[in-house]
Amino acid sequence: MEYDFPITRTTHPRPRPEDESKLGFARYFTDHMFAMEWDEGIGWHDGRVVPNEPILIDPASCVLHYAQMAFEGMKAYRTPSGEIQLFRPDMNVKRLARTNERMCMPSIPGDLYIAAIKAVIKEDADWIPVSPGTALYIRPFIFGDEPSFSVLPAKHYRFLIILSPTGSYYAANDGGLSATRIYVQDEYIRAARGGTGYAKVGGNYGGGMRASKDAMLYDCKDVLWLDAAEHRFVEEIGTSNAFFRIGDEVITAPLDSGTILPGITRDSVIQILKSWGVKVSERRLDIADVLRASVDGSLKEIFASGTAAVISPIGTLNYKGTDYGVADGEVGELAQKLYDTLYGIQTGSVEDSFGWTYKLGIFR
Ligand code: COI
Repeated sequence: MEYDFPITRTTHPRPRPEDESKLGFARYFTDHMFAMEWDEGIGWHDGRVVPNEPILIDPASCVLHYAQMAFEGMKAYRTPSGEIQLFRPDMNVKRLARTNERMCMPSIPGDLYIAAIKAVIKEDADWIPVSPGTALYIRPFIFGDEPSFSVLPAKHYRFLIILSPTGSYYAANDGGLSATRIYVQDEYIRAARGGTGYAKVGGNYGGGMRASKDAMLYDCKDVLWLDAAEHRFVEEIGTSNAFFRIGDEVITAPLDSGTILPGITRDSVIQILKSWGVKVSERRLDIADVLRASVDGSLKEIFASGTAAVISPIGTLNYKGTDYGVADGEVGELAQKLYDTLYGIQTGSVEDSFGWTYKLGIFR
């Protein structure tokens, strides 16, 4: 289906970042956003591109009290030939559908979702950064805004897409890769079986902030979550999935517990590693085995993977106040190669033999 959304252009352009090689993560937002509403009996309606401005919301809105919401994270890149492209947007469509189902929210047809992204990116295409390590971060989100204190699904929803020129989440000041310190969280938990761990919902992250704050006491940038039942098996990192290279095997937590976010970068990393003939296992991994491997030297690498994090090497784990080094504490060879390949495919400088990129067009 063809969509033709009305556009209202801003009369107050936002300040542009002065140096796009020092963007940080989501500190700037572009001039426009996409907005659309859902009503019972009508479905999604009134899709439009409007100035990115504060929105009015009823203080009794369901989302403000019971967190009925879903979000996605994607990026747009400008290739050397000027084309703007997305990375595996079909995967975001599917993941959002699963999250919406879990949160009792209306699904969005894939073609409408992609058309909405295209419409707002077309308007703000000149915000797409091109310095190494940067991209235009896309944050689509849905929330229930029916004014109601009933703990029941709302009858009215809003869908917005906002955009941010950004560097990667854990990037070094120069935008390049640097090894991060991560705190192993053995007190609080992120997700239990039957919960919302596999869904992309704000509550998963809001509930994790206390742990991230504690991690900072140990000079760590984020946490490595352990499983909820035994506080023993590695799950994921605050913002991203986690990979452990021990000996000749690369291990990441399996998705079957329903407690792990099915990362699109996670899936891509698994496929790329397999294409290189690297042994990759989706299996449970005891934190004790990771620490033992650190001590005996078989822990070669740990890295995080995610849309925001891209590939972020971990140089040190802190467990109960003790530092455990990951090899020499520097950026691992596989992490660097994965980053170069993945970011290269995303930005069009490496051939996309997987068919993952989705061209939006050349908008100036
Ligand atoms: C993303 O990687 O897109 C995310 O949504 C992670 C976010 C918590 C920074």
